[in-house]
Amino acid sequence: GRSVVDVPVPDVFADPPPPDPRTMDGLRREHGSLRDRITAGDAAAAARQRALGKRTARERLAALLDEGSFDEIDRYRRTQAHGLKIGENRPHTDGVIAGSGTIAGRRVFVYAQDFTVFGGSLGEAHAAKIHKVMDLAIATGAPLIALNDSGGARIQEGVPALHGYGGIFHRNVRASGVIPQISVILGPCAGGAAYSPALSDFTFMVRDIAKMYLTGPDVVAAVSGQRVTHEQLGGADVHAGTGVATFVHDDEDSCFADVRYLVSLLPGNNLEPPPGGPARGATTELRPALAGIVPVEPNKPYDMRAVVAELVDDGEFIELHEDWAPNVVCLLARIDGCTVGVVGNQPMSLAGVLDVQAAQKAARFVRFCDAFGIPLVTLVDVPGFLPGTDQEQAGVIRHGAKLLYAYCEATVPRISVIIRKAYGGAYIVMDSRSIGCDLALAWPTNEIAVMGAEGAVNVLFRKELATAADPEGLRAELVHEYTGQLMHPYYAAERGLIDDVIDPEQTRAAIARGLEMLRGKRADPVQRKHGNVPL
Ligand code: HXC
Repeated sequence: GRSVVDVPVPDVFADPPPPDPRTMDGLRREHGSLRDRITAGDAAAAARQRALGKRTARERLAALLDEGSFDEIDRYRRTQAHGLKIGENRPHTDGVIAGSGTIAGRRVFVYAQDFTVFGGSLGEAHAAKIHKVMDLAIATGAPLIALNDSGGARIQEGVPALHGYGGIFHRNVRASGVIPQISVILGPCAGGAAYSPALSDFTFMVRDIAKMYLTGPDVVAAVSGQRVTHEQLGGADVHAGTGVATFVHDDEDSCFADVRYLVSLLPGNNLEPPPGGPARGATTELRPALAGIVPVEPNKPYDMRAVVAELVDDGEFIELHEDWAPNVVCLLARIDGCTVGVVGNQPMSLAGVLDVQAAQKAARFVRFCDAFGIPLVTLVDVPGFLPGTDQEQAGVIRHGAKLLYAYCEATVPRISVIIRKAYGGAYIVMDSRSIGCDLALAWPTNEIAVMGAEGAVNVLFRKELATAADPEGLRAELVHEYTGQLMHPYYAAERGLIDDVIDPEQTRAAIARGLEMLRGKRADPVQRKHGNVPL
C-alpha cells in the first residue's frame, strides 16, 4: 500500500500540468496558447503604458527593426525571485524583451525593457537575458541597441540585481570599440542604470518620456531641500545640454528613424569596413556654392553645416550633440558612398573657439571614428582656444589635451581642410599635418599663424610702439608687414605643411579623391597595454 510520506508536496510555482493524454496536437496547442499569452502581455498594463505617451516594448521593437525580422530569445524566461511584491506571479520575460533582428537588412542585437512588468526593473532573470544578447552581439560582431524604460534595480530582489547591472557594465566596456553600442532612453533610467548609456557610443532621448539621473527628485529634496521635477532634473533637453544625450527627439517615431539611419552608417564591428554604397561621382564634382557660403572676412560668422551640406552625399548627415558645445560640430555622413566622420569648427557659435566642452565632444567623436575605421574629415576655421579664468579653472589644459591625444592616436585616413583661419595651439590640435593628418588642404582664404597680426605686433614691437612718434601709424605698417610675410595662404604650403591649396568649389572632389587615395591606410600598432589618455 501507499505510505503517507510518498504524497508529493504541491509546488505553487509549477506550471499547470500538461493536458492528458500527451498528444502532439495537444502539446502544440498548449505551446501556442502559452506563447500567445506571453507575447500579448498584460493588456491593461499596456494601456497604462500608452496613456503615459509610451509604446510597449514589443511595439518599439516592431518600429525599430525591419518588418518580421525580430527573433526573440528567452521569451519563456521567468522571474526567479519570489516573495515581496512578486508573490507567486513570476511573469514570463521578466520585464525585458531580448533578441535579434535586422535594420535595412543588417544584423543587430536588441533588448527593450518592458515597464509594464515590475516597472521594467532589473532582476536576476532580466539581467541574464540582457547579458545573453550582449554576449551574442560581441561574439557575432553586430551592433547592440538597448531600449531603456526601467525603474532601475529591482528593489525586492536585492543584491543579485546590482550584480546584474555590474554584468551589463562589464560587457559594455568589453564591447567598447568592438561593436557599436546604442542606448535609447524611452522612460526612466535612474541611478546606476544610467551608466550603461554613459558607457555606450550613442544615447538617444525622447522628450517628455525620457528621464536620466543618478538620484531622483525625492533624494534631491531629502539631501538638499531643493524641489525639482523629474523633467528639470533629467529630461531630454537637460541632457542635450549636459552632453549625456547624443541625440534628442520629439517622439519615438523620429527617434527610431534616426537610430536606423545611424546604424546604416556604421560597420557591424571594428574588423569590418564601414558600409559603402556605390560611388557617386564625387571625385570630379564641382560645388560652386561653397565659395559663396564662407565670407572672406575672418570674423564674419556663417554656419559650418552649410559647408558640410555641400560636401557630403545628398547634403545628408546626422549631427551629434547639437546643443552641447555647438562651437564644434561633429557629424556622420557619406562622401562618394562611404561613411566619414566630420569635425568642424562652428564660426556661428562663440566664433568657433575651442573650449573645455568642445574639446571633450570632439575628442570622444574622433576616438569613436578611429575605433570603427571611419575616416575623419576636419574642417578648420578656428580663432584659438577660449581665453579666460573660467576656462583655466575648468581645466582647459587637461580637456584640450583629450582632443590632441585623440587625433595623435587616430590611425584612420585623416583629411583636413583649412577653410579660413587656424591660429596657435588650435591650428595644431585641429588635425594639422604635425600630429598625423594624411592630407592637409586649404582654401586660398587661409590664415595660419601663431597669433593674429595685431597681437603679434603688440608682443614683438612693444618697446618701439611705446616710444614711437606715431604709434598708430607704426602699428598699421607693422601689421601690414606681418600679414604680408607670414599670413598669406601659401606660407604653409611653401613649407609642405599644407599639401594643396584648392579652390573652394573643388573641396568635395578633393576630399573624395583623398579618401580614395588613403583607402589602403593601415595602422602601425604600438605594443603597449594602453595609453594614458587624459580623462
Ligand atoms: C521594483 C519597481 C521599481 C524598482 C518601479 N517599480 N521601480 N519595482 N523595483 N526599482 C514598480 C512600482 O512598484 C510599480 O509597481 C511599477 O513599477 C510602476 O512604477 P510607478 O512608480 O507606479 O511608476 P511611475 O509613477 O511612472 O514612476 C516611475 C519611477 C518610480 C520614477 C521609475 O517607480 C521610481 O522612482 N522607482 C524607483 C526608482 C529607484 O529608486 N530605483 C532603484 C534605484 S537604485 P506596481 O505593482 O505598483 O504597478 C538603482 C541603482 C542601479 O537603480 C544600480 C546599478 C549599479
